[in-house]
Amino acid sequence: MADKHKIIMDVDTGSDDAVALILAMLDDTFDLLGVTSVGGNLEVKLTTENTLRMVEFCEKQDRVGVYRGADLPLVSTLLPTTAQSQLPLPRREGVSVPEGLHHAAHIPTPKFTIKEQDDCAVVWLIHTLRAAGDGEITLVAVGPLTNIALAVRADPRIVPKVKELVIMGGAEQYAGSNSMCAEFNAWVDPEALEIVLQAGFKTTLVPLDATFSAYITPSDAERIRAVGTPQADMLADLILKYGTASMLKGIDPEGETHIPIHDALALCSVRYPQVLKRKAACCHVDISGGHAYGQTILDRRRGESAPEPNCEFAFGADRELFLSWIVDVLTKAKGE
Ligand code: BDR
Ligand code: CA
Repeated sequence: MADKHKIIMDVDTGSDDAVALILAMLDDTFDLLGVTSVGGNLEVKLTTENTLRMVEFCEKQDRVGVYRGADLPLVSTLLPTTAQSQLPLPRREGVSVPEGLHHAAHIPTPKFTIKEQDDCAVVWLIHTLRAAGDGEITLVAVGPLTNIALAVRADPRIVPKVKELVIMGGAEQYAGSNSMCAEFNAWVDPEALEIVLQAGFKTTLVPLDATFSAYITPSDAERIRAVGTPQADMLADLILKYGTASMLKGIDPEGETHIPIHDALALCSVRYPQVLKRKAACCHVDISGGHAYGQTILDRRRGESAPEPNCEFAFGADRELFLSWIVDVLTKAKGE
């Protein structure tokens, strides 16, 4: 087999983060070096616990360390003018996915045979990346960008070590449920995303425009369940649960629900870059604290005034490839 993709996941687990984590642990073309947690869907204590539960569920506790990261965003909750300043921690527990994983069906009671590591996420990220060769590790960041921004501000020497930084975040034509124009991960920590976009990583942005076009339907979820393993069952439950809880879903004219599994699509693009329809873009984040706070803005200038691109922006995705990847990973893991 070709060399495995060495990856690190930065997550705010979160139902769709959980789907991505399970697939990262089961896809044997990935070597998951560790997982860092960040506050977002839930406070970081809970996103860390949920991440530990997923590692234990996949029985990878001897291989995959979980490192707790930042709870609060860099700046946004400090601003008196933003709605987020009205969200102290206990209320953030309700953001986006009402119960996180806590009440999702069929999630085994954790034994917590695995504990979070001593090092904090940022220290471990810097240490691990500094020890790697140039372009050795792919970072898949599917929560607010707080940990990555802190790491790169503290030690920019990590930048060349990263083969690709894949971010689930941003939106061109869509918005998350908390803002009139910003996607959730960008909205929670706009300054962090802007710092990261300006840091010089080879960055792929997987925004809502892509994740909505790679939707999963309830009948797709049953196709996933039909693989017939506990992991397949769990993924189907998580997808259906997310489809019920999330406001970020669509209904087609036939009445079928379209469930975007944002974070898993970002991961899929590491294995299959062609799953994303991309364009080179210069993307910035509105950090002015007004109505557009957290909105990703693509520079539209052309010709001589066109800026240098700072990322590849995915404006669409191949839904069939995404779905068949999920089914294939589960089927292959069954045979092992
Ligand atoms: C993103 O926000 C979170 O709620 C999801 O986990 C995903 O990372 C989608 O906007
Ligand atoms: Ca997430």
